[in-house]
Amino acid sequence: MFERQLTRIDTIRRYVDGMLNACKDREDARCGFVHLYGVGQACALIALHRGHDRAYAELAEIAGMLHDFAAYKDNARENHAQRSSIQARDILVQTKEFTSEEIDLICQAISRHSNKKEVHSEMDEILKDADVMQHWLRNPVEEYFFAQERVQKLIDEFQMVNCD
Ligand SMILES: [Fe+2]
Repeated sequence: MFERQLTRIDTIRRYVDGMLNACKDREDARCGFVHLYGVGQACALIALHRGHDRAYAELAEIAGMLHDFAAYKDNARENHAQRSSIQARDILVQTKEFTSEEIDLICQAISRHSNKKEVHSEMDEILKDADVMQHWLRNPVEEYFFAQERVQKLIDEFQMVNCD
């Protein structure tokens, strides 16, 4: 019989679910579930596609799951990357399941994810690309995200040959 393996993703999921389930506005919570888990999975996909191993993809996925944590928790967008990075660090330390290097890698990516114009480290770029990819994949016909440079680069990278 298939028994699901419990991993650090499940640990983090408890924090994300708990925070979103506490949101007063159910529509905000629904958007949060779609976006945070969507970006998490896109992070894993992009990390693996770029040749990283599964352990790295797990960290990337966790960065995605936590990247807008403060925006939903505090219902405020302003400076949310910095605030999410601080809240993510608290969570990751509290779990006692991550090394300090892993925590730094995840939290740096979260703190820089709003800076889409610049290019930073590999983990930082995976998170930024996953963020725009999730928005775009909500509706691939919508022009707003399709027109973004990062989406166009992802279309090339993933060889989506009928995307014009
Ligand atoms: Fe986001």
